[in-house]
Amino acid sequence: MKDYARKVYRKLRGIRSRRRFRRRLVENMQFDVELYEKHSKTFNRSLKQTEHAILELAHSIEKGLMRKNMRRLYGKEKVESMMKLMNRLWCLKRESYYLKIGESALNSYFIYFESESDEIVKRLRGFVKRTRDIQSIAGFTKVRIQGENLSDDFKKILISRHSIRSFSPKDMPLEVIRDAVSMAMRVPSQCNRQSSRAHVFTDREIVRKALEMQRGASGFSDEVPVLISVTNGLSAWDSANERNQCFVDGGLFGMVLIYALHSHGLATCALNNAFEGEKELEMKAFLGIPEDERMILFIAVGYYPEGDVKIAKSPRILIQDVLTIHN
Ligand SMILES: Cc1cc2nc3c(=O)[nH]c(=O)nc-3n(C[C@H](O)[C@H](O)[C@H](O)COP(=O)(O)O)c2cc1C
Repeated sequence: MKDYARKVYRKLRGIRSRRRFRRRLVENMQFDVELYEKHSKTFNRSLKQTEHAILELAHSIEKGLMRKNMRRLYGKEKVESMMKLMNRLWCLKRESYYLKIGESALNSYFIYFESESDEIVKRLRGFVKRTRDIQSIAGFTKVRIQGENLSDDFKKILISRHSIRSFSPKDMPLEVIRDAVSMAMRVPSQCNRQSSRAHVFTDREIVRKALEMQRGASGFSDEVPVLISVTNGLSAWDSANERNQCFVDGGLFGMVLIYALHSHGLATCALNNAFEGEKELEMKAFLGIPEDERMILFIAVGYYPEGDVKIAKSPRILIQDVLTIHN
């Protein structure tokens, strides 16, 4: 009888725990939905969304110009949308750099189709006049890849990076971080959206407190001299199908940033941002990160401590478990 009661009790506990889990999962998904609906550019066209829409369209136009069998006045409707968006941005923020990118894309299009006698070319002529002298930022160019073998150098970088959980107390010049971030900006991004951001914190107390909230750096949180928060802006993304793309682009940016920091001789450790919705909001409020950016990961950065440094071996699984070749 006792055994039977224990079995029933365990079963009920299991059911309750699964219900709790589902409730929290749904609450967090609801949080994701509301944040995405509020900040993505699906229904918003405020400053950030307009800038991102221009960046994306500029890329679409420049890609169109590279097509092998390009149709006459290919992408006319994109040019139309670009002019509208640029007029809107002109009103919102005249000095926006995104205007230059848009103007440059339109310029490339105009130069290509200048001889056509179409209404859009006439309108474009009026539009690009004031931008004729801008340097060509967008458009296309040609490169010849020399077939140089870079894999040995890249392997060196890959093999020598480890998560380091001990740092020298030495302060770090921010110039190094700046250079690493500019290297990380070479990362590919969907439609060239470039929506990843790096927030750098050097105040030891803020770093310590943030890591205390994060909970994944216990034992070394006091030693971390610089903390980078990698985020990705929702204003770059559109519609339901792109709901997860901020995590994809943000993750890629974070990884390249880690390698860039490593190439500068800095010790790094990626730290998760696996927060539930409320906790993410709390963390963003504490760090002053805008609500419309999703937190992707932290990177602890500093100089290596003197002498040998202990690392976890973190064994890798077998390649046959990772690689599937589909013929
Ligand atoms: C997104 C991400 C989150 C991580 N979060 C933590 C963390 O919270 N705390 C920690 O000590 N290590 C963290 N790590 C480091 C991993 O444990 C480490 O990358 C893994 O064991 C492989 O070891 P390696 O980086 O030395 O090659 C994280 C790594 C990634 C990529």
